[in-house]
Amino acid sequence: MAQILSKQANAVVTGAGSGIGRAFALAIAAKKGCVVCADIDLASAQATADHISAQGGRALAVYCDVSQLVDVELLAEQAETFFDGPTSLVINNAGVGVGGQPIGEVSMADWHWALGINLWGVVHGCHVFAPRLRAAGHGGIINVCSTASFAAAPKMGPYNVSKAAALALTETLSAEMASTGVHVTALCPTWVKTNIAAQGRISGPSAAMAQRLMARIGFTPERVVNDTLKALDRNQLYVLPQLDARLIWRSKRFTPALYTAGAGLLNRLAGNHL
Ligand SMILES: NC(=O)c1ccc[n+]([C@@H]2O[C@H](COP(=O)([O-])OP(=O)(O)OC[C@H]3O[C@@H](n4cnc5c(N)ncnc54)[C@H](O)[C@@H]3O)[C@@H](O)[C@H]2O)c1
Repeated sequence: MAQILSKQANAVVTGAGSGIGRAFALAIAAKKGCVVCADIDLASAQATADHISAQGGRALAVYCDVSQLVDVELLAEQAETFFDGPTSLVINNAGVGVGGQPIGEVSMADWHWALGINLWGVVHGCHVFAPRLRAAGHGGIINVCSTASFAAAPKMGPYNVSKAAALALTETLSAEMASTGVHVTALCPTWVKTNIAAQGRISGPSAAMAQRLMARIGFTPERVVNDTLKALDRNQLYVLPQLDARLIWRSKRFTPALYTAGAGLLNRLAGNHL
């Protein structure tokens, strides 16, 4: 049965201090939801919560490093206290960008950083909240993945691996949650206008290129969030909000070897520009 989960939700949003997470928090509050805004940067989470309060909504800012299980467990408890009841919607959104170097040159520290936040952060969010939602028999989980989950773009090894694993986790959770009343949705965008390129560990010409592409062809976070909340209400697993995301998805599914060879060729033709 269709459930409108995005309205009047008791929602937890990670990475709510900026970009897509902030847009999720504001959109849910605009639909009369209560929002716990979690971020490793507490001041930015507080700014999002203050914005919601100024609009007459209810929000709480919480410090949380999603790479730490203990922080996510504490987040779940703080949320239940704030809502005075169960959490109905979890958005595992916090993430960081790593790019610019090929496998073998990108540092182990950057591998651990990307996987710690982009993968383990989502694992922790699902581990802590999935049993609670299943027990309630109602609710939703949105995991913010990426077109990088399947695009295999060169010089983005740690990011691609973290996002591919996050998508596999989301698909598995969706299968496990079938008929439980819990909706599971994976958001897989290409470029969205946020702070990710400026805040990430992106080296060489890739940094400037990422910022240019984001500014020129990126969707706004609000547009992507709007599509995703509608998809959640329909219990739709995949959200590919942009045309380029859908083209990459189809090419990779139907001609995977040709697609991957093409990605390598483009990288060689681009030479030092990427
Ligand atoms: N912007 C894009 O083009 C794009 C494309 C595809 C996927 N995504 C994904 O969207 C998600 C949101 O990114 P964004 O683009 O809004 O970036 P952003 O940098 O604007 O926001 C990310 C937020 O996550 C927070 N964060 C970072 N590490 C954290 C941690 N350990 N614990 C808790 N919070 C942490 C940051 O403080 C920040 O507020 C990420 O998962 C990203 O990979 C972004």
